Amino acid sequence: MSFKTNANMVVLISLLLSSNIFAGGRMMQESSTETWLKQSAAFDIQKIIENISPLDADKGAIIAARTRVNPNYYYHWVRDAGITMDALSAVYPERSAEEKLALRKLFFDYVSFCKKIQKTKTLTGLGEPKFKVDGSAFNDPWARPQNDSPAMRAISLIEWANQLIADGHAKEVSAILYPLDASSEKPIKLDLDYIVAHWRDASYDLWEEVKGKHFYALMVERRALLLGARLAHYFRDDASAEIYQREAKAIEPLLLSFWDEKRGFIVETLDREGGVNYKHSNIDAGVVLGLLHGDMQDGFLSWDDPRVVATIETVIHAFQQLYTINQRNTIPGFAIGRYPEDKYAGSNFDGGNPWTLCTLAIAEAYYRYANALNAKGQTDAAVIIQKRADQFVERVRYHAHVNGSLNEQIDRNTGYMTSVEDLTWNYAALLQARQSMLGLLLSGKTTDKGHYFTTNNEQGV
Ligand code: NOJ
Ligand code: NOJ
Repeated sequence: MSFKTNANMVVLISLLLSSNIFAGGRMMQESSTETWLKQSAAFDIQKIIENISPLDADKGAIIAARTRVNPNYYYHWVRDAGITMDALSAVYPERSAEEKLALRKLFFDYVSFCKKIQKTKTLTGLGEPKFKVDGSAFNDPWARPQNDSPAMRAISLIEWANQLIADGHAKEVSAILYPLDASSEKPIKLDLDYIVAHWRDASYDLWEEVKGKHFYALMVERRALLLGARLAHYFRDDASAEIYQREAKAIEPLLLSFWDEKRGFIVETLDREGGVNYKHSNIDAGVVLGLLHGDMQDGFLSWDDPRVVATIETVIHAFQQLYTINQRNTIPGFAIGRYPEDKYAGSNFDGGNPWTLCTLAIAEAYYRYANALNAKGQTDAAVIIQKRADQFVERVRYHAHVNGSLNEQIDRNTGYMTSVEDLTWNYAALLQARQSMLGLLLSGKTTDKGHYFTTNNEQGV
């Protein structure tokens, strides 16, 4: 008990010390989905900042949540951290100069933590899913490796590199993130080279339960490699660029084989080797998350691809029927879980609840689908899909705590927030949904313009 109090004190103090420049509550009064999502950004960023570098952690560690017992989420999960930093990179360009400075500082802290854990000796090398907050290894039994993790870390580093290059910091980026001299540490290349060597291997899925080949992992591995190829090319590391590009292309046929023609949706796992034995359907919100986090906006499994549309519908349908709270037609949209057979409730296995981040994934997927339709001039259809997206955001808004904060799960019977509080990933998911709603996702576009070394000014672009 006294341990718990101490832990909470540490968090409280770090809260008081952390910068307040993003202060602003979540709008609770009636407003349109668009207004609500737009105005939520400062609150979501602040919530994320509260979970970065708590006082008893190394600078740049991102805790998955503050809860330390039953379950203990007080670790730096490489996937959650990567998703979170990727989301922050997407909102960076539109913030004020003061806020940008604060975000850059956070990012460079994150880079030093990433470099530290890349050097930590772990049981699975760079595929290790989580670390203690001082950067040391977590060596208890766990589902490992999880090879989506280094891919999400690389994606977050590259997306930040891209934003910083666009913002005039190319020199700093090359020195810290993509040095070409042999002796410097190379955080991005380390992860990309690991992916090149291991994407064919079986690993554990993003829910840390099943060993096999996973759609989610392969999608983010592909994106990491493609983004990496562009960045390598930009820094005139053409040999690496070629390798990353070639490997990304080699992943594509495997990804397409996850389409189950007979059942009419994309499955999450193939060549299953072990893990929980009650996961039969292979219907999984992880597929939608893979489409989102692996999205290169390059036409590969695009949002209006009938296979993608059918998969989103299959996922919604599975949960629509499953949860009591989805049977009340007074609440908008549907609450979405990880996969229909799920049992994990955070502290026990009596669960099988909807998850905040999975519900937001459907919203975001529909926003991107609406954008794709708009881009093709199908504006009427886009309006319909955009409205559907709004409904899933409204669902999360409905179940949120009164102060706007969000737990990992939503009780399937009562609708109250349950499992861990203030899951960092939730706030990243809301930021991403907002960016998708606004059509603001760039995904590596900033480095398309040329070579760092051939531009006239030092800024690169
Ligand atoms: C903890 C993991 O984080 C969670 O995703 C999983 O469902 C349980 N362990 C059971 O394996
Ligand atoms: C359990 C989730 O299944 C997993 O995806 C996540 O990385 C951890 N919790 C930490 O949030």
